[in-house]
Amino acid sequence: MSTEAEQTAFIETFREFLNDVVFAQRGNKSTRTPLGDLIAGHLGTAIETLPLVSDALDPHRLVDSDMALEAIGGPDATLVGVTGGQQRFNEDFPQLLASPHVAFDQGPVDYITADIGPREQRQVVAFGVRLFHLNGEPVAVLQRAPRPEFGRQFAGLEVLARTPEASGAALASIRRLMVERSVLRGQVLSFTGDEYGRTAGAVTFLDRPGVPAADVVLPVGTLERIVGHVIDVGRLGQRLRSSHQHLKRGVLLYGPPGTGKTLTVRHLLGRSDGVTCVLLSGNSIRFITEAAELARAMQPAIVVLEDVDLIAAERETYGGPQPLLFAVLDALDGLDGDADVAFVLTTNRADLLEPALAQRPGRVDLAVEIPLPNHDARRRLFALYGTGLPFSAAAVERAADRAEGMTGSFAKELVRRAVLRAAQEDRVVVDADLDTALDELLSPDARLTRGLLGSPEFAPDGSREPGHRA
Ligand SMILES: Nc1ncnc2c1ncn2[C@@H]1O[C@H](COP(=O)(O)OP(=O)(O)OP(=O)(O)O)[C@@H](O)[C@H]1O
Ligand SMILES: [Mg+2]
Repeated sequence: MSTEAEQTAFIETFREFLNDVVFAQRGNKSTRTPLGDLIAGHLGTAIETLPLVSDALDPHRLVDSDMALEAIGGPDATLVGVTGGQQRFNEDFPQLLASPHVAFDQGPVDYITADIGPREQRQVVAFGVRLFHLNGEPVAVLQRAPRPEFGRQFAGLEVLARTPEASGAALASIRRLMVERSVLRGQVLSFTGDEYGRTAGAVTFLDRPGVPAADVVLPVGTLERIVGHVIDVGRLGQRLRSSHQHLKRGVLLYGPPGTGKTLTVRHLLGRSDGVTCVLLSGNSIRFITEAAELARAMQPAIVVLEDVDLIAAERETYGGPQPLLFAVLDALDGLDGDADVAFVLTTNRADLLEPALAQRPGRVDLAVEIPLPNHDARRRLFALYGTGLPFSAAAVERAADRAEGMTGSFAKELVRRAVLRAAQEDRVVVDADLDTALDELLSPDARLTRGLLGSPEFAPDGSREPGHRA
């Protein structure tokens, strides 16, 4: 056991040693790397004391920063890679320019391929330095992709210029262009997060669905009401804004499984050309904060939260021990009222959501039931899914009678089975096939199948029996 004096002496020695290690190379030009010489030449100043301005980017914004830098740099920009193997991933930009260990030099640029649309890709700089002038001031920017294996979860930009003002101005310009020209703008996107990390690992570009209104069979006026709230409010945005009316809106679509909530959402997406749409469902709802941020930057936007009941009971969020559902409601609340952002929530357990929604009123300003189809709707459903098939009006009517309490997805499956049966017997489909398919699907043996097709016999809250309609 050492005495106090010995300990103090040791600490002092160790402190001096650390000082030597930390400060030995400071301002020592001999440690400047060949890359450092290049950057110093470009900036025309001593680089060892320049402050670094850096910015972490969500991985899916790397494409945007790449395109923004290319635009800002113009044709006279120089792009160089960096040698030094894996060591370069450990170092920040200044350490690449002055290193006692590795003589970092110009080398090949690293690229990755990134999506910029449902079917388009672009080569993006994953590790490289751009040298250019902005407003006459020389600027050097290191752009890097995330490298989780080196503890870098985020993509990043590191900016060096002759003054902090110049580097700050450069970063601000890059940021502005990233939003203005974002590849995400006007796209349909889903977040596919890394299960283990907070970062939205990737954004997936989806084709905008095309579901005509005629393919969505709902009670008269229902679809129009939803479209009016989600689409028209955006379309009339200027007028509403000038009369000081808010644009932000939240719609809850609720009803039993298989009744057309997702179908309705797909119709909305199809009618929102040019609107940025972010789809979150299940696990990816944990990215609600990022999605709301994205929606605000890329408005007009629609954020879809599918099956929100799945998170109603979930307690864990990254912000703290509050239910994830509250994080969702906070995200709705966090946006400015005049942001042209529509949130569309779907659920088949409105009963689970009600308490939370009631506790934080105003987030959702329209709730629309997507009910089990009534007789008229069932007739329209069988007619829709029988389009082009030789079913008689009487057969369709019979099916509508017998399928009481069943869903839209049931109607679709019923017609499919009738067609399959005829195909198996190598003949055209007839009325009797529809009747037989109904016999099969309504038989007691098919109870589970009916459940899988969304029969309310299986309603989780037990409140709906076949035939029961609200
Ligand atoms: N109202 C409807 N009009 C036309 N087709 C429907 C309707 N409801 C369901 N369908 C058919 O059933 C399929 C499944 O419906 P959908 O995915 O929209 O159900 P959902 O209400 O979202 O159910 P869940 O609560 O299980 O998510 C649709 O793609 C469509 O083919
Ligand atoms: Mg659904």
